[in-house]
Amino acid sequence: MSVTWNLDSWREHEIRQVPKYNNKDHLDTVEDQLRLSPPLVFAGEARTLRDHLARVAQGEAFLLQGGDCAESFSEFRADNIRDTFKVLLQMAVALTFGASCPVVKVGRLAGQFAKPRSAPTETIDGKELPSYRGDIVNDMAFTSKSREPDPDRMLRAYNQAASTLNLLRAFAQGGFADLHQLHRWNLDFVKESQQGEYYEEIATRIDETLGFMAACGLTSETIPQLRETDFYTSHEALLLVYEQALTRQDSLTGRWYDCSAHMLWIGDRTRQLDSAHVEFLRGVENPLGLKCGPSLEPDELIKLIDILNPENDAGRLTLICRMGADGVAEHLPPLIKAVEKEGRTVVWSCDPMHGNTIKASNGYKTRPFDMILKEVDAFFDIHRSEGTYAGGVHFEMTGQDVTECTGGAQAITEENLSDRYHTFCDPRLNANQSLELSFQIAERLKRHRDNNSKSS
Ligand code: TRP
Ligand code: MN
Repeated sequence: MSVTWNLDSWREHEIRQVPKYNNKDHLDTVEDQLRLSPPLVFAGEARTLRDHLARVAQGEAFLLQGGDCAESFSEFRADNIRDTFKVLLQMAVALTFGASCPVVKVGRLAGQFAKPRSAPTETIDGKELPSYRGDIVNDMAFTSKSREPDPDRMLRAYNQAASTLNLLRAFAQGGFADLHQLHRWNLDFVKESQQGEYYEEIATRIDETLGFMAACGLTSETIPQLRETDFYTSHEALLLVYEQALTRQDSLTGRWYDCSAHMLWIGDRTRQLDSAHVEFLRGVENPLGLKCGPSLEPDELIKLIDILNPENDAGRLTLICRMGADGVAEHLPPLIKAVEKEGRTVVWSCDPMHGNTIKASNGYKTRPFDMILKEVDAFFDIHRSEGTYAGGVHFEMTGQDVTECTGGAQAITEENLSDRYHTFCDPRLNANQSLELSFQIAERLKRHRDNNSKSS
């Protein structure tokens, strides 16, 4: 670990999961172009998110983080962004209302393009080509031209992230997210379902409350909190040439911010103590996520916290645990105990997706809804018995009516998977399954808060 951090210091560290760009001049030109492009987010927004996350760390709010496993160039449409945003709003409403708890909303959106892979190359019928690393790097088609990493893809990703963010900001602030609109967030194909009906019940109760408030003079015109919501963006900071090119020095504080998104996380495959990814991210002031898988040892976690959050600042670091439903009871408690013993303040968030990926008998990569719920449940139970706060969840989900995860109230079977399996990477919860999960979590959260208020 070099003592002083600078924009380039990560380049002296061992790096994993990077594409090999063959034309250095081309890469340089693109990096220069990105460096001259406007930042996508403003440092002040990243600071506000840190403040919100500090409230989560203190048990006063809940983090909802969700979106695509991988965004793609070909699925880039306003409808897709809108529908995912609608479902996130519905989930947020279910949680806010169900648990009387403020929800910090963070999308896995507007920049989630780069993917870590289990092997650098892929071989089909004796032909070996570089692995697909996400649309920001190369193309999924199995030809040598498609798989060649192309720096121009970073510019396209930047532009797509900019217009996605622009639309999200318009939705969040421009009236679409007004609580008086909450019936409109229920997607047509969800309405008829059990989840859709349950959502309508909640929406109707909120309507009544809003009617009462309006009678008291509290309306969207007088109360901006009813009309607007804060929505933040996040992605895995994997492609460091891109992240560096979008990192800017804040004129107010002189500190560095990675302005490609509000929050960035380090993946489970790139979190080694001396890794380039840890080195780069320790130097930016954004709120950070750290993915914690079953192989993370408690003392290694404490060393990572030392590096990433040396001032022990609440809101700086979110530990996103992805242990798997069958691994969480063994692997999570030692991490919690170590963090508590060392007196570190973190947000504990549960990613119940990545530890529960299986291959269906017909070859589809899938995730059983029951396993996802089981991991969430265990996560809440373990935190309760350790006396710590289960502060958030991290999902791969979409507003589309896909069939990628099995189970849920819709009872999607392995045979159903082929009906609408559209993901570019991992299987996502569909709109129904996402809602169902948020109702379940709202109940757990409510119970937790009821217990706490009784004991205090
Ligand atoms: N501003 C509040 C919040 O963001 C209330 C709110 C407005 C809200 N629109 C929302 C909550 C949409 C959830 C979803 O929490
Ligand atoms: Mn994924």
